[in-house]
Amino acid sequence: MRTPVPDYLAEVLDGVVADRSGRVADYIPDLADADPEVLGVAVTTVAGRTYAAGDADVEFSIQSISKPFAYAAALTDRGTEVVDATVGVEPSGEAFDELSLEGGTHRPKNPMINAGAIAVHHLLVGPDATGAARVERVVDFFSELAGRRLTVDESVYRSELDTADRNLAIAHMLRNYRVLSEPAAEVVDGYTRQCAVNVTVRDLAMMGATLANAGVHPVTGRRVLPAAVARRTMSVMAGSGMYDGAGDWLVRVGIPAKSGVAGGMLGALPGQLGLATVSPRLDAHGNSVRGVAICERLSRDMGMHLM
Ligand code: DON
Repeated sequence: MRTPVPDYLAEVLDGVVADRSGRVADYIPDLADADPEVLGVAVTTVAGRTYAAGDADVEFSIQSISKPFAYAAALTDRGTEVVDATVGVEPSGEAFDELSLEGGTHRPKNPMINAGAIAVHHLLVGPDATGAARVERVVDFFSELAGRRLTVDESVYRSELDTADRNLAIAHMLRNYRVLSEPAAEVVDGYTRQCAVNVTVRDLAMMGATLANAGVHPVTGRRVLPAAVARRTMSVMAGSGMYDGAGDWLVRVGIPAKSGVAGGMLGALPGQLGLATVSPRLDAHGNSVRGVAICERLSRDMGMHLM
């Protein structure tokens, strides 16, 4: 008899639960309080069917997994030309919180590192948008993708903003190079709220499935973003979503993906499915240890590797 999918997913979780290596992120004080044993997985097909196991309803902050979706929103709002003039699409080969600007243009190398994501956040809505309008845009957009109303975790937001010196320094450098046209503190405030939106793995799997489904929401059938934007977003995730671990990831798992420091991971397999995991202990690249192991197993068992 074939094993039902949820049983299979539970077995995949059993296979990684003993791995207690890695460390919970503590540079944002609130994240250090996360339960390190949280472990969940969800898969949503482009037909709109979700399978989940473990802590699939536990909320955590989206953190850097917000970056591909904010990039998609900025591309939709401002068009490729404006976005390309502000941020590149090349892997940085450096950690997520390095400045990683291109020589000459001073554009951040890609939208997945903090420098690029801060620059992308400031492009949202339009040139005259207020900080509040930019935040509203991302929260509304993430909510539409997830299929339920999402909210900012005020405690995570405040905790990160209190310790945001590095992102503020990055934003000031971007402003110095005229990449940012808005005050650094205002943009970092909005970017920090964007990262503090609470999600579950079910939400992320649905968001990933919408990318995989060329921008059409698998359940509502609504076109949430243009197909070309979904393709570009997944392309950039493939090259830079796992930061300086991106090459290794592409070889071992072989699908576009994005990690976040709260322990979430998102994958999108074009034309097939979105997948998400949560487990807060991170490896040296800032990627979830068990999340990477789960994705490797799923990729192997389901033949997900694109190459
Ligand atoms: O800006 C930061 O440092 C966090 N809000 C997000 C960083 C993050 O999630 C990196 N991912 N692995």
